[in-house]
Amino acid sequence: MAGTIPREFIDEVLAYTDIVELIDSRVPLKRSGNNHMACCPFHGEKTPSFSVSQPKQFYHCFGCGASGDAIRFLMEYEHQSFVEAIEELAQMAGLQVPKIAYSTEPQKKAPEQFELLDQVSNYYQHQLNHHPKSAQVQDYVKQRGLSPEVINTFGLGFSPPGWDNVLNVIGAGDQKKIQALFDTGMLIKRDEDSKAHPNKSPWYDRFRERLMFPIRDRRGRTIAFGGRILGDGKPKYLNSPETRLFHKGHELYGLYELKQALRKIERILVVEGYMDVVSLAQFDVNYSVATLGTATTSDHLQKLFRLCDEVFFCFDGDRAGRDAAWRAMNNALPVIKPGKQARFMFLPDGEDPDTVVRHQGKAGFEAEMDKAMTFSEFFFDHLMQQVNMESLDGRSKLIDLCKPYLEKIQEGAFQTLMVARLSELADIEKASLLPLLGIKSVSMMTGASVSARGDQRKTASIHKVQGPAPVKKAITYLLQYPSLAEKAGDPGRFSSLELADINVFIQLLDILQNDPNLTTARILANWSDKEQHQFLARLAVEPLLINDETAVSGEFNDLLLLFTRQYQQQRITQLQRKERQQGLSSLEKNEYLQLLQALKS
Ligand code: UTP
Ligand code: MN
Repeated sequence: MAGTIPREFIDEVLAYTDIVELIDSRVPLKRSGNNHMACCPFHGEKTPSFSVSQPKQFYHCFGCGASGDAIRFLMEYEHQSFVEAIEELAQMAGLQVPKIAYSTEPQKKAPEQFELLDQVSNYYQHQLNHHPKSAQVQDYVKQRGLSPEVINTFGLGFSPPGWDNVLNVIGAGDQKKIQALFDTGMLIKRDEDSKAHPNKSPWYDRFRERLMFPIRDRRGRTIAFGGRILGDGKPKYLNSPETRLFHKGHELYGLYELKQALRKIERILVVEGYMDVVSLAQFDVNYSVATLGTATTSDHLQKLFRLCDEVFFCFDGDRAGRDAAWRAMNNALPVIKPGKQARFMFLPDGEDPDTVVRHQGKAGFEAEMDKAMTFSEFFFDHLMQQVNMESLDGRSKLIDLCKPYLEKIQEGAFQTLMVARLSELADIEKASLLPLLGIKSVSMMTGASVSARGDQRKTASIHKVQGPAPVKKAITYLLQYPSLAEKAGDPGRFSSLELADINVFIQLLDILQNDPNLTTARILANWSDKEQHQFLARLAVEPLLINDETAVSGEFNDLLLLFTRQYQQQRITQLQRKERQQGLSSLEKNEYLQLLQALKS
């Protein structure tokens, strides 16, 4: 989204905007000291705790935690999209939003591409029953036990044998169409000098002799295909490449069909294969989707949690399945909100959802689902396997292992729950645990309050910093004292540090070293991702325990030193591991000795 408008233009728009004026015209403000105050438009209140700062070009509510720049204000208050907010501000400032290829081109080209892919899909569906050589695919479909109904629901088809079916039938000698078929991944271009194939056309069909699964977007338009080989052979599945219409990390196979089938979605099951989704649907487990040969991304999860409260992940019980589950867990951490649940189910070795549902039917499959682990069971089980829980040392190691993950969870009930569980398992009081985790004292999120405009937003409370994680602390100092950046040295030296949010810190340092005079609002404009933006916005107004510039600068330098030490430690461990496994080069030995020296000093 942010990629569509150049960063420099956003900076320019913010530089021309006065947030006080902008907000005052919608929510009348009263001057109070350095700030302008009002009753918060985002939650109901009788005494003003909503403050707008002119020098910072930033608003913040001490009651509900709402905060951000002018763009964010329009997005939240007027419910505008990021682009709309910028357009409005640009208009007020008399600036022209630059027209860029990204926003105009696809609109011109895409309808034609959707149309062609629909034609291809219809063609494949027709071939499934009518192609002279369709006996083989029909046998295959029968052998897999697919019913005509489910074939129809999912629009399964057959890409016939031959190198130029789509090319000739859909391309029909029209260069524009052929180019569009290439752009959507249906055709492949031959190497200039490849004479390997008798057909001299520069193009050939990507999919040949496969059972075809059309992948549809949320509006039901075909955007890509997966094709299964009939029988054994490699690759088992061939997929469309990433194209302008198709981004694996954003699409889920079967989501359109699921939404067609269900009016109310109670839960969604994420599986690994096309065939799993189709079989499950045939047996009336019509709430599953598949990732498309990639790990489940945070974006996938956000989509799913917008549709329902409970998401099940189904994996093979083997090692690869466990690893995939852990990756999915990691991507789920920042996305889970109060009231949302993720659960993990593992199937016996050698089984997948397709085989289980065929052998045991819907009831059997759902019985397996009932055994699924809760998020916290899976999370702690996995990490506890890495330590000796009998010893104090092991339990304290568990806390260290959990820390980077727990930090990623949004504040609120879910975080509280996870921390409480860790406190039980590690056998340490919650009060002593929180500072170790660098988590602010957690209070349960209490319901949602109704804003002046009738929409709901969650309330978050602001707490004093209580021994926050060092990186968070360093970010907070930088946001509130941007001049610290100048003497901080090259940010690149922290880039291999394995700490949560270190990349945000590096990016921030980099931005401020280029322009130390940016307002908070303009700094934050570099982050359009909502989570990160809110995270930074919160830190920008976090009350500090010290507010004397020299003291802050001293603490900041201590933190930089700490990061350097941590990096040295990390590197030493790496080198030690390498030494054990394959030995060190003389350069690495030198580095190792120098690191040991440096740590002693
Ligand atoms: P699996 O190998 O588990 O296959 O791949 P499956 O879904 O059980 O297929 P059947 O039952 O043998 O027909 C799971 C998913 O991984 C991707 C596909 O998305 C597939 O559905 N995959 C697998 C590929 O993209 N290419 C391959 O060669 C194999
Ligand atoms: Mn299978």
